[in-house]
Amino acid sequence: MAAYEYETHDYDVVVVGAGGAGLRATLGMAEQGLRTACVTKVFPTRSHTVAAQGGIAASLGNMGPDSWQWHMFDTVKGSDWLGDTDAMEYLAREAPKAVYELEHYGVPFSRTEEGKIYQRPFGGHTTEYGDGPPVQRTCAAADRTGHAILHTLYGQSLKQKAEFYIEYFAIDLVMTDGACTGVVCWKLDDGTIHVFNAKMVVLATGGYGRAYFSATSAHTCTGDGNGMVARAGLPLQDMEFVQFHPTGIFGAGCLITEGARGEGGYLTNSEGERFMERYAPNYKDLAPRDYVSRCMTMEIREGRGVGPGKDHIHLNLSHLPPEALHLRLPGISESARIFAGVDVTKEPIPVLPTVHYNMGGIPTNYWGEVLNPTKDDPNAVVPGLMAVGEAACASVHGANRLGSNSLIDLVVFGRAAAIRAGKVVDAESAVPATNTAEVEKALDRFDGLRHAKGAIPTADLRLEMQKTMQADAAVFRTDKTLAEGVEKMTGVAAKMGDIKVTDRSLIWNSDLMETLELTNLMPCALATIFGAEARKESRGAHASEDHPTRDDKKWRVHTIARIGDTDVALSYRPVIETPLTSEEEGGISLKKIAPKARTF
Ligand code: FUM
Repeated sequence: MAAYEYETHDYDVVVVGAGGAGLRATLGMAEQGLRTACVTKVFPTRSHTVAAQGGIAASLGNMGPDSWQWHMFDTVKGSDWLGDTDAMEYLAREAPKAVYELEHYGVPFSRTEEGKIYQRPFGGHTTEYGDGPPVQRTCAAADRTGHAILHTLYGQSLKQKAEFYIEYFAIDLVMTDGACTGVVCWKLDDGTIHVFNAKMVVLATGGYGRAYFSATSAHTCTGDGNGMVARAGLPLQDMEFVQFHPTGIFGAGCLITEGARGEGGYLTNSEGERFMERYAPNYKDLAPRDYVSRCMTMEIREGRGVGPGKDHIHLNLSHLPPEALHLRLPGISESARIFAGVDVTKEPIPVLPTVHYNMGGIPTNYWGEVLNPTKDDPNAVVPGLMAVGEAACASVHGANRLGSNSLIDLVVFGRAAAIRAGKVVDAESAVPATNTAEVEKALDRFDGLRHAKGAIPTADLRLEMQKTMQADAAVFRTDKTLAEGVEKMTGVAAKMGDIKVTDRSLIWNSDLMETLELTNLMPCALATIFGAEARKESRGAHASEDHPTRDDKKWRVHTIARIGDTDVALSYRPVIETPLTSEEEGGISLKKIAPKARTF
């Protein structure tokens, strides 16, 4: 047994992660008088939400007619009919309220001439249930919307006396008789161990983009909540759906916001052709991301890529007025200069589809409560555990997320989790006692990794995983590449037992932290490749060349992955098809959202 002393902390709620979802949940919990701690491995305003550029979707109708029903329809279609209808309705309906709350908290949104929140077009956002012209629905703070939201929510959380534990790494959940009762953490700067006992633990740990070699995600996006959930014997959902953003900077991977195309930018191939007009006559460059990424990949495959290797595409902005670039897209003008050496007023930006977002994650209902689906009860809730943001799968994005539906997901579901916690967490009841046996188990694992004396350095094994995922679970997939991917990833995961950690220190030990992160990335990568190999259809971001059509009869189901050290057991759970509001009560007509071919 590992001999570590630890300090205990008792709270009503502990939120793990301080990105947009974590901070919105923290703020909401604290506002209701719940004693709330937020534990985060990075300083809150350095969480990956800070990198979100283009904006946050809500049907405010500031730039023309819009409605939450149209937003819901676009989200259903964008998801390729894999989203849960109740959650998608909740997202679209609550979005305007959530954005006005942000405005009142102090988010410095860009403004129209009349002083309203400025909204720009984004891919797949339309009017008239897809029959009308594109809508300007994405509320923006220039191209630094995530930055503005994060700073505002952090300030508000401090004002509400939420308590922050900064640069604490969450090692494992504490599970007691099937309920979550806390989380074990390692304080990075002094090496001490801390056990947080809580009536509710909220995982807001973000995505796992770093399971891939090239991603717009920060290096901190290592699926930490997903890993903890998998080790607790709970499943992950729909992990095969990984979004490639069409415009990552070629070679660097940094994001160039879809807002660039929203403001009038367009893609060209080596012949200077605006090829999206050919693939998507209606939506053109603002077709949904999965589709644009596939079209770009096809252009490159057919020899019309740009550059010496004919291996990327051009994004053109130089026709836009310099004042518009300065006002609306200052951040990406700077990124293009720094990371591609390009002056956007004169030259196109070299871009390539790049891993950007995980539609899958920890299954939850639309209140953020974590689900452990069984045959008898596909919606069974795990007591004491919630998940929000990219770590979670509510599921509003289904097989493909629409641009700017991510930031709204963070705040709508962060807020929903707080509303729910206000009902289910009794501030007067006792905090669960420390479950010492479970804490020791977590510390044994920690100690084992700290003293790992194998042959493979963490960085080498991580690279092998990243290269495998990049090659075999890409924009286009085949039965062959996926079968090879399953075999390779099984072998890669098996090598975790031979990992080498050289630094034994407990203080600022990045070798150990990266190893813990790798133990979180690995189950995510396994679930992704196993789930993709099993799904014999094409839907949203899962594009199978051997099964090119969507098969609603067999595959309109969520994948539930239970993950072992090197294997994954898959089962399936029905998609929720019932909206929250009936048509008579003003809700969307079921006919409107019935599955049909996705055209652009
Ligand atoms: O393109 C972007 O600005 C990214 C937004 C998003 O992923 O929602």
